[in-house]
Amino acid sequence: MSYNKRLDGRKFDEVRKMHAKVGIIKRADGSAMFQIGDTIALAAVYGPRELHPKFLQNPERGVLRCNYDMASFSVTERKKPGPTRRSTEISLVTEKALASVIDLDLFPNTVIDVFIVITQANAGTRCAGISAAAMALAHAGIPMKDMVAAISVGKVGDKIVIDLDKEEEDFEEGATDIPVAMTPNSGKITLLQMDGEITKKELKKALEMAKKVCSQIYEIQKNALKEKFKVQ
Ligand code: CDP
Repeated sequence: MSYNKRLDGRKFDEVRKMHAKVGIIKRADGSAMFQIGDTIALAAVYGPRELHPKFLQNPERGVLRCNYDMASFSVTERKKPGPTRRSTEISLVTEKALASVIDLDLFPNTVIDVFIVITQANAGTRCAGISAAAMALAHAGIPMKDMVAAISVGKVGDKIVIDLDKEEEDFEEGATDIPVAMTPNSGKITLLQMDGEITKKELKKALEMAKKVCSQIYEIQKNALKEKFKVQ
């Protein structure tokens, strides 16, 4: 099925408008907001702090613990509060997407807690959460080997597109959603999931698109961090 024009009028390789802010939650050790279109993710980092109960502690390395949650009011159909299979999965893949840039060996017996709350959802929330969390970790002063930026790519009808919105994800004739997280300097992929079908050639093209946008997100993340630490 041919998809000649995007439903919201964007070009196939055009992302929604992005905005980032660092230092939005005073009580946290680090915090940030990342917005892409109507999707808004807030992240708060606490730690490294002693991990309780103690039997969970690892004397060799710290533990990164991520918690992803979608607010009840973030979607039109009220979402029942509390964890779901979906939120458990997203928390886990978020942890994996972020863990490789943090040297957890430096923080034995501790936990670094990352809380992500989606206040507005219109697809791409796990990626927005990861981009927000990476900024919050940097803001908390956690030594990082690289940043992590994330974006969803995929296929709607017969076209490879970047940053699918909810309407596109639900496209009747078929859509494939591929959330990707990358380390912008070393170019490593730390998250790659896929919901749908795509050929190898199309996947390569989609990943190229994702790489370009991850560099753009990295610039936005750096600017938001610089803005926070600017001497007034
Ligand atoms: O948000 P993301 O694309 O990372 O994950 P998803 O599981 O593919 O969800 C896609 C979208 O479905 C979300 O961003 C929300 O807009 C919507 N959704 C919803 O309306 N109600 C839910 N309980 C879960 C998701």
